[in-house]
Amino acid sequence: MPIRNFDEQTLTAEVLRRLEATPDPRLKEVMTSFVKHLHAFVREVRPTPEEWFAGIRFLTETGHWCDDKRQEYILMSDTLGVSMLVDFINYGKTGNATESTVLGPFFVEGAPEMALGANIAKPGTPGEPCVVRGSVAGLDGKPIAGALLDVWEAGGDGFYDVQKAEGTNLRARFRSDRDGRFWFRCVKPQSYPVPHDGPVGRMLVATGRHPMRPGHLHFKIAAPGCDTLVTHLFVRGDEYLDSDAVFGVKDSLVVDFAKNASGEYEIRYDFVLKRAARAARAA
Ligand code: BEZ
Ligand code: FE
Repeated sequence: MPIRNFDEQTLTAEVLRRLEATPDPRLKEVMTSFVKHLHAFVREVRPTPEEWFAGIRFLTETGHWCDDKRQEYILMSDTLGVSMLVDFINYGKTGNATESTVLGPFFVEGAPEMALGANIAKPGTPGEPCVVRGSVAGLDGKPIAGALLDVWEAGGDGFYDVQKAEGTNLRARFRSDRDGRFWFRCVKPQSYPVPHDGPVGRMLVATGRHPMRPGHLHFKIAAPGCDTLVTHLFVRGDEYLDSDAVFGVKDSLVVDFAKNASGEYEIRYDFVLKRAARAARAA
């Protein structure tokens, strides 16, 4: 018996019915919810055919901007708050463990490992010198020796090395020492715009938003038996802390960058890692 002559409501029901045989239960759940919400969105917005096609063109163009250096879809997810929503759902606050925030598009796997105390900024890099000191410990307060810290930042001109094609700069990997401590030199982070020369930038302009992020230093910290922590340290007093284009600021990650006796900026932060979810369940 053919099923046809749908209307606004029965069409949605039929699309959902055809998903019922999806063998993978999680895929079935995701697709069912996606279709329900997408149809509800279209019923609410009631787009003209031209408007619907403009949306399709926007998504097509977003795809065309993506390559191994530029991920316009991640930028869309970040600027629409979805990346932080996924972060809240998966890495909610646990005790005094350090809070997480967005990874962003400028992380590079396999940055050079440097000795503690090294400067991640090559000579001549724009920006004011800064010393970063801190430690890595578990929720039980015990120091974690040998934790792998990836750090990366934009220079004083607001650009990451990968945006300038000048070779690796302003990123490195360090290992915490036997007492869980680490220290290195860098430049004081400055506020900078997320890439805004593509479709996401046009969306920001069209919706009256700025593309700026408050100055921050990125960290990815991994240690055996612990959840890997992806986070930033933000500069207290930055004018964009309350309007970060990607909604990533948490109070606990805002740090005082004060000048020391040698006239360099200096910060200190003690990171606390959670035990890995699987290890915690097994214990
Ligand atoms: C960043 O902090 O590097 C970043 C995060 C999200 C979008 C764009 C840039
Ligand atoms: Fe960044």
